[in-house]
Amino acid sequence: MQDQLNKTSAAEPLTIDTLKYGPPVGHLELRTLICGILQRTIMSGLHVTPENLVMSNGATAVLDNLFHLLGDAGSSCLLPAPCYPVFDNDLGSRNDVKTWQVYLERPDTDANVLDAAKRAAESARKPPRALLISNPDNPTGTIYSEERMKGFLKWCIRKKMHLVVDEIYALSVFPSASSARPFRSIIEIASEMAESLPPQQVEILWEHLHVVYALSKDFCMSGAELSPLAC
Ligand SMILES: Cc1ncc(COP(=O)(O)O)c(C=O)c1O
Repeated sequence: MQDQLNKTSAAEPLTIDTLKYGPPVGHLELRTLICGILQRTIMSGLHVTPENLVMSNGATAVLDNLFHLLGDAGSSCLLPAPCYPVFDNDLGSRNDVKTWQVYLERPDTDANVLDAAKRAAESARKPPRALLISNPDNPTGTIYSEERMKGFLKWCIRKKMHLVVDEIYALSVFPSASSARPFRSIIEIASEMAESLPPQQVEILWEHLHVVYALSKDFCMSGAELSPLAC
């Protein structure tokens, strides 16, 4: 990215607006540009507006802020194992939300495994408030199928749990032998699913779904620490 950034900054020097305080959710101009990128890539064909986005300093800060809002101290978040180990810090260090690892085996047993994990966490007095999925997954590289993601969504709607999908590797995916487009953003999947749900469930869905993205991986700009949260 260095060559590209050098060219851009030479052509468009910093203005005073860039250096001043802006809206806490991020400059409108930046959010508009990010909307454009999202609509050209992982959220193509969807109506994403700057009002749907909150910007922060990297996915780490987004997760920290998000779980500050979603989880009470002492609550937990279900998370498929093995997982990106820094989630423990992102959720726990300020907010005291515990990661509760679940061992998912097959799509047809996911709901039962999640039910059992929820019961176990509740018995341990760590009631889960959310399910956190990293898709594409770090560290396994797994791309969850659309059917499986729908299953997670349905489970969260049924339980009124938040579903947080970390899509930080969304554009670092290559066509496979079996599929030209192996990854789909949960926003696309949820939008399609919403068309056949009763209005009450649609409301629960949009209130409980949160997507985290960042420039750290796909744009090789981890030091820029820019990250949108779509909600
Ligand atoms: C799945 C996942 N989420 C979040 C992060 C952290 O992102 P950021 O550098 O934007 O804070 C990483 C970094 O490795 C990651 O792998």
